[in-house]
Amino acid sequence: MRTMSIPMPDPMAIDVEQCRAETPGCSNVLHFNNAGAALPPQPVLDAQVGHLNREAAIGGYEAEAEAESQLQHTYAAIARMLDCTPEEVAIVENATRAWDMAFYAMPFEEGDRILTSRAAYASNHIACLQVARRTGAEVDVVPHDEYGQIDVEALRSMMDDRVALLALTHVPTNGGLVNPAAQVGEIAGEAGVPFLLDACQSAGQMPLSVDEIGCTMLSATGRKYLRGPRGTGFLYVQKDWIERLEPPLLDLHAATWTGPETYEIHSDARRFETYEGHVAGAVGLGVAVEYALTLGLEAISERVQMLADTLRTALSGASGVTVHDAGRTRCGITTFSAEQKTAPAIQTALREHDINVSVSTPSSTRLDAEARGLPDLVRASVHYYNTEAEIERFVSRLKSVLKG
Ligand SMILES: Cc1ncc(COP(=O)(O)O)c(C=O)c1O
Repeated sequence: MRTMSIPMPDPMAIDVEQCRAETPGCSNVLHFNNAGAALPPQPVLDAQVGHLNREAAIGGYEAEAEAESQLQHTYAAIARMLDCTPEEVAIVENATRAWDMAFYAMPFEEGDRILTSRAAYASNHIACLQVARRTGAEVDVVPHDEYGQIDVEALRSMMDDRVALLALTHVPTNGGLVNPAAQVGEIAGEAGVPFLLDACQSAGQMPLSVDEIGCTMLSATGRKYLRGPRGTGFLYVQKDWIERLEPPLLDLHAATWTGPETYEIHSDARRFETYEGHVAGAVGLGVAVEYALTLGLEAISERVQMLADTLRTALSGASGVTVHDAGRTRCGITTFSAEQKTAPAIQTALREHDINVSVSTPSSTRLDAEARGLPDLVRASVHYYNTEAEIERFVSRLKSVLKG
């Protein structure tokens, strides 16, 4: 007797058609600039516009009071995504400010060592250099391994009692590399050294449990893979570290003026925030995080990796094109250069066909770009709502742009 095998629906699968139908931008553009700012889904847009309408209708402060539960929901949603508590989350205006509020709160002294890696993002590294100049701390770059990721054994051998901070960029701005954050977290944990993870490009495209990673602090942005509003970001600080970190800037939201000569800094992560903020953005950010959690970050990661691998394979077959992504594990970002045209020329030509990519310049990741001799790169970053058909269209248009 023949047995019929009935295909089972994959419980992890994302309903791509529905996601696209809920994303207004999908009908206008082929958007491979998700590492710049992803297309927001309609519920995120509705939450922001709805809040702006209430601000106009009843007043900004009054609308904020009305939105209190939605704002609390944003902290709770971020906490669920990161596996932490809402008290460990600060909402700020972008990932850089989140990172800075943690970094500049560290009490560095002469002789301290800040360990970073080749994937370091420009803004973070500039801050490291500034602090080194001011305090006499040293910035040491951990070597990379044969995959181009941070060399975990080299890191282990560099640890000593002068190491005051481990700062790692999880996913760099200039390629598909995913650094082994949890292995770095293990070393940081063993040494009792704080670990600041820049998760700006990884938040929203892969699971990010601060417990599993073992980071002390984590910074991220709303507008990239989380598909949230521009002008939003957040910082996680592990509860035992919150009161050890005095924010570089304080206001009446971060601290209370308790007497003519005294003030008290708040004991939760609100100490890293400012009073005035982008309330519609914060409301929209909560909806964006919830949207990602509902789809599932495992499922998102699986689909994003599958699409990016498909894109890399197709690009590798295009004449004159070199794909530059490093890493043992790779994510949704793909960067490439072409012999025939510069990256800005390719970006402009594609834009004429409603295809969005961005250009990654060496100055955004100088350590890596100089070590690998990278030129300006075209960055094509895919998200789960992109399709294989879009990849085909993209590569075919790229080939004609390169011929033209
Ligand atoms: C790895 C990385 N870190 C930090 C940032 C800064 O993020 P934001 O522009 O939200 O400050 C970026 C932005 O592209 C980035 O790619």
